[in-house]
Amino acid sequence: MELGLDGIIATNTTIAREGLGLKSDSSLVEETGGLSGAPLKERSLEVLRRLYARVGDRITLVGVGGVENAEDAWQRILAGATLVQGYSAFIYEGPFWGRAIHKGLAARLRTSPYATLADAVGADVRKTA
Ligand SMILES: Cc1cc2nc3c(=O)[nH]c(=O)nc-3n(C[C@H](O)[C@H](O)[C@H](O)COP(=O)(O)O)c2cc1C
Repeated sequence: MELGLDGIIATNTTIAREGLGLKSDSSLVEETGGLSGAPLKERSLEVLRRLYARVGDRITLVGVGGVENAEDAWQRILAGATLVQGYSAFIYEGPFWGRAIHKGLAARLRTSPYATLADAVGADVRKTA
């Protein structure tokens, strides 16, 4: 906030290797560099929640890291994201991935207590605050 940032992208890749289930292939576990996709989903969501709890609506939060489907995107919105980014899942799922997310989000919103996606932004965090 002191720096006057317009927003924060939470998060990038992870250097953690926990929970990969690759114990038999140490070369993969020991590989250097950032890991993207599903393994960083929970941590990325947790970081986003913590950021929203601190900055609320004052700056834009972008949720990214392990977003695979509409439910993941919905969880990022509830955690405070007004933008959701995906990279790895888009590579694996192909060009219609974005459409599937949009359709799934629309369905999720209809069964939710919120009138618009904007109303849902940060709702989970505000509930526990
Ligand atoms: C091949 C590849 C290249 C990437 N290059 C960059 C980059 O140049 N700058 C950056 O900030 N993040 C980069 N990222 C990280 C992504 O922007 C994103 O934060 C990360 O992949 C987590 O999202 P995901 O789980 O949807 O892939 C890259 C990721 C991948 C897989």
